[in-house]
Amino acid sequence: MKDYGKYFNTPSLKDARMRKRDTEIIEFTIDDKYQKLGTGKKYSIQTYGCQGNEADSEKMSGIFEQLGFSRAQSSEDADIILLNTCAVRDNAENRVFGEMGRLSSLKKTNPDLILGICGCMPQEESVVNRLLEKYPYIDLIFGTHNIYKLPEYLYSAYLDKERVVEVFSTEGSIVEDIPKVRDSKHKAWISIMYGCDEFCTYCIVPYTRGKERSRQPEAIIAEVKELAENGYKEVTLLGQNVNAYAKDLDSEYTFGQLLRDLNETGIERIRFTTSHPRDLDLDTIKAMADSEHVMEHLHLPVQSGSNDILKKMNRKYTREGYLELIRQLKLHIPDISLTTDIIVGFPNETEDDFVKTLTLVKEVGYEGAFTFIYSKRDGTPAAKYDDNVTPEEKKNRLNRLMEATNSGYLAGSKRFEGEIVEVLVDSVSKNNPEMMTGYSRHNKLVNFKGAADLIGKIVKVRILEGKTWHLLGELA
Ligand code: SAH
Ligand code: SF4
Ligand code: F3S
Repeated sequence: MKDYGKYFNTPSLKDARMRKRDTEIIEFTIDDKYQKLGTGKKYSIQTYGCQGNEADSEKMSGIFEQLGFSRAQSSEDADIILLNTCAVRDNAENRVFGEMGRLSSLKKTNPDLILGICGCMPQEESVVNRLLEKYPYIDLIFGTHNIYKLPEYLYSAYLDKERVVEVFSTEGSIVEDIPKVRDSKHKAWISIMYGCDEFCTYCIVPYTRGKERSRQPEAIIAEVKELAENGYKEVTLLGQNVNAYAKDLDSEYTFGQLLRDLNETGIERIRFTTSHPRDLDLDTIKAMADSEHVMEHLHLPVQSGSNDILKKMNRKYTREGYLELIRQLKLHIPDISLTTDIIVGFPNETEDDFVKTLTLVKEVGYEGAFTFIYSKRDGTPAAKYDDNVTPEEKKNRLNRLMEATNSGYLAGSKRFEGEIVEVLVDSVSKNNPEMMTGYSRHNKLVNFKGAADLIGKIVKVRILEGKTWHLLGELA
């Protein structure tokens, strides 16, 4: 094999499928020899994909700053650029390859620039092979399991001038105490678990993120308490399947219990994502209903309204089972706002299957949805299915679906006209410096006239008009 660099550990989707029982917990520390590595240097991280990646980027920023790097204002100004990537669909990957090409030109004006790629894409064999063959100017390639080794990789890249390629295809560990530089001073991402064991047949995530492994409840509760003490107003608990939280721990602890415990920490707002319908139980629904600091919004991906397709997707629930969950949710939390993810054009999806998705969308009354055309992912079981829905038909279904989900968005906005809602103020509106913008408890984007000193506060806003994508209001 060609010698590509100092570390050469490339991914294997076959190994990544393995699941072992024990989870190693690693305490993060930085070796003395890496201290001050970044003095006088600037870093830039571009983040793609889900909030899990956002949370990882905050950890990498924390490591950079502890090593003495400061944040660059733009990629032109940076000494090192990392792309934290997403592999979930083809178009996500193509954007990254395009951006890599653009960034390579910066190396002409700044030959010392270090370019790195990390996150989910390097966990795929085909991607790493393509990077090694066609992108020789990339200095650093690592995956989702070894962020904590960033100081060592930077040391090699800077001092040994070596290309670093290291991707672990293991089931993954839990690393505690990585410093974080959070993007917001009032809202925080908290990863409560890592990985996914669901193996939906279309999805690459169980291969790129390893097995499901939960952090200890005490560690999460302590983190949220500290955030509340430092003035944070909102936490979003993250995991690919938060409803399976703690199932891998040797205890009776559950996600519902975690919500109840976090409700007592002093944090104003608790959100969580993503929930898998199979693992959403009545206790969790009751915990949501009983906990005043848990917001009245649930993102519950359905993927399809057809039992045949759900079965082929290995989602492990039926349309009827899903609708029963929705009934329970509405019973216990009557004003809940529901959103979802849907895939159209899965292999063998018929017009009849698709119509079942449309009728389910109307029946549930989603107030928001992320809608996707199926994208074949190498190494997943569905990649072997015949992708037999034509591109035209896929687009046609996506358009019809978006028409239905958009009217759901609008209805979800209209229902708040005349009401007073609580808004956590995020920032000055991009389009109008007199307007402030933030989110209501039901996760609606609200714009209202106000001053910048409201940022980070929770204010009451009377809703004057509900539009499709946002609510317009005035301070109440
Ligand atoms: N763990 C979460 C979501 C992970 S990915 C969950 O199960 O809900 C986010 C969304 O991307 C998924 O809900 C699904 O709708 C979509 N997705 C995943 N793989 C896909 C693929 N191969 N093609 C199209 N959409 C996909
Ligand atoms: Fe992918 Fe399914 Fe896991 Fe979500 S639950 S990350 S869709 S395998
Ligand atoms: Fe993408 Fe990886 Fe998240 S594939 S959706 S960044 S877990």
